[in-house]
Amino acid sequence: IERTLSIIKPDATRRNLTGKINAKFEDAGLRIVAQKRIHLSLAQAGKFYEVHKDRPFYGELCEFMASEPVVVQVLEGEGAIAKNREVMGATNPANADEGTIRKEFALSVGENSVHGSDAPETAAQEIAFFFSGLEITG
Ligand code: GTP
Ligand code: MG
Repeated sequence: IERTLSIIKPDATRRNLTGKINAKFEDAGLRIVAQKRIHLSLAQAGKFYEVHKDRPFYGELCEFMASEPVVVQVLEGEGAIAKNREVMGATNPANADEGTIRKEFALSVGENSVHGSDAPETAAQEIAFFFSGLEITG
């Protein structure tokens, strides 16, 4: 059974959308097996998004992620990584399918409400970045 790392981003926590977003995950058959609300420092956001450090939006992205609290969570299910990305929708909400989280809630390509791991290796890395084994219970 697969696990993926999900982040409910500051634009969504600010608008009190955590429950509505979690309902989308649960309706899709994803189980929330770990979850906590944290406020990332700029340095922590920078470390998490290090893969994007050469992209033009890196500074803006890190400042946004550190601007207000986020909810980090581990989602579990059959094909959880792909399923979560399906439920999230395209990075840019203008291109996201009907019914997806980003179509319904995202404000822009930057303030796009959720993050989801994109592959098994990154999922394992990203889960370990935020959670110890003790904090995850299937
Ligand atoms: P994540 O699940 O957050 O990784 O999204 P993604 O995999 O759909 O997108 P990608 O990894 O390409 O980009 C990571 C994040 O950077 C996106 O979710 C956006 O928040 C942000 N981002 C991507 N493109 C832009 C952009 O053109 N401008 C800004 N401000 N942010 C961007
Ligand atoms: Mg990505």
